[in-house]
Amino acid sequence: LRVAVLISGSGSNLQALIDAVEGQELPGVEIVLVISNKADAYGLQRALQHKLPAAYIPWKKSRAEAEARIAAMIQLFQADLIVLAGFMRILSAEFISQFPQRIINLHPALLPDDGGDTYTTSDGSTVPALRGLNVVEQALAAGHKVTGSTVHYVIPEVDAGPVIRRAEILIEASDTADSLHEKLKKQEHILIVEAVRQHNA
Ligand code: GRF
Repeated sequence: LRVAVLISGSGSNLQALIDAVEGQELPGVEIVLVISNKADAYGLQRALQHKLPAAYIPWKKSRAEAEARIAAMIQLFQADLIVLAGFMRILSAEFISQFPQRIINLHPALLPDDGGDTYTTSDGSTVPALRGLNVVEQALAAGHKVTGSTVHYVIPEVDAGPVIRRAEILIEASDTADSLHEKLKKQEHILIVEAVRQHNA
């Protein structure tokens, strides 16, 4: 399975995938391309350190232009799966339609299987399904006791496609946005590898 990873920032989830591939934990999986919409994304350095083809594709001018370049690179590198790992841009329905069931996204909140507005946690309580940006801060501000991360297939509706993997974490009274991001990422580094393995099964 040839995987292209799209990032916008630190790329610690990209690193988790690189480590899993290099550690023979993802048999049959190869990361063939890393694309960032931010030139200074540390994830690009991680790609280069591991001798992976890496590209900065600016989003400034037009989304259509950026997406056309990304689609061209996906085709050129023959990527089978596109992994959005901390990619902070919304992809158009037109772009998504070119890669049906071939784009997965990592979202730092609990999303229900049915794309609905609430998620029922394992202890039976329900929390709103937080979508879009700053969902970690929202969960904290709303006083939720449970949050987590979800890996799902990308469909035109934002943060709403079929769920592949999901994991919960408890929010503790002492948690800050930083500590919560930290806890979530530790779990995401496992979740993203499991999701790619499951896709490749
Ligand atoms: C992850 O927490 C992901 O859920 C969110 O952005 C973060 C990306 O982190 N969308 P990194 O760039 O993989 O370190």
